Amino acid sequence: MSSTLVLPGGTWTLGDRTVTRFGYGAMQLAGPWVMGPPKDRDEALAVLREAANSGITHIDTAETYGPRVVNDLIREALHPYAADLLIATKVGGRRDAQGGWPAARTPDELRRQIDDNLETLGLDALDLVHLRLGDASGTVPEDIEEAFGTLVDLQRQGVIRHLGVSNATAEQVAQAQSIAQIVSVQNRYNLANRGDDDLIDRLAAKGIAYIPFFPLGGFSPLQSDALSGVATRLGSTPLSVALAWLLHRSPNILLIPGTSSTAHLRENIAGSRLTLVEEDLRELDGIAG
Ligand SMILES: NC(=O)c1ccc[n+]([C@@H]2O[C@H](COP(=O)([O-])OP(=O)(O)OC[C@H]3O[C@@H](n4cnc5c(N)ncnc54)[C@H](OP(=O)(O)O)[C@@H]3O)[C@@H](O)[C@H]2O)c1
Repeated sequence: MSSTLVLPGGTWTLGDRTVTRFGYGAMQLAGPWVMGPPKDRDEALAVLREAANSGITHIDTAETYGPRVVNDLIREALHPYAADLLIATKVGGRRDAQGGWPAARTPDELRRQIDDNLETLGLDALDLVHLRLGDASGTVPEDIEEAFGTLVDLQRQGVIRHLGVSNATAEQVAQAQSIAQIVSVQNRYNLANRGDDDLIDRLAAKGIAYIPFFPLGGFSPLQSDALSGVATRLGSTPLSVALAWLLHRSPNILLIPGTSSTAHLRENIAGSRLTLVEEDLRELDGIAG
């Protein structure tokens, strides 16, 4: 049986579900550039089982990872799912033959992506679906009414339990909130990329989760002299300090660090238990400039 007590950060309530703030992002389980099968399939399955056995109850995925590969691995490793496990997914994009991530947000495309997620994950309903906006280079200020409205209709039909938005501007978050209740925003944010600081605080005041993607820097892990300095002083590693800082930043921040390695997963869980004092925080807050 899983124990949420062992994980750093405690828990957060997403709609009617309680999840561990320390979660797991499954994107790194696919092949290079998130295309094709993993280089070590057994290790990929082992990472997912390790996450569940560690007590993690929030796993982030998308049908576009592989595509299909990561959802298939999740089902193979963890189905039938534990009652307390929440699998969050994203719709709004597809993969092209070059590995690009073009938008796919017409009502028909979104409904098809929901069906694909249900099928690959082996579920009758999806716990949490983020509408993924913008493009691979970042957010794009576009109207979301039709796309988000399509997901709201699917929620009414019972195939989606909770809704969120991803890669969204503050205006798009507000537009989504004007249409239906959202429980989370999943955007790019880490020690060095703090454009969402105000948004995080506003969401915290409303009890809405903020889920940073690329918490460790993504495809180019965070590097900074200040970060290394704090890590050395604490007898830790830069990436552990980066995760501990996120947990410290705001109680509504949920971590989904990605890894394809059980050793890194264990290291990240253990490392983010760090207590940061005022001097550490002052130095770390200076990194984003
Ligand atoms: N909504 C969106 O648009 C969006 C976009 C991107 C990602 N996401 C989600 O966010 C999650 C997190 O993002 P991410 O996985 O791209 O980036 P990330 O968590 O910032 O960093 C992952 C990278 O860090 C490395 N890493 C992890 N732990 C490490 C350790 N202890 N020591 C050394 N290296 C370590 C991983 O390599 P190893 O595999 O070797 O450990 C991997 O290359 C994804 O898994 C995905 O679920 C969402």
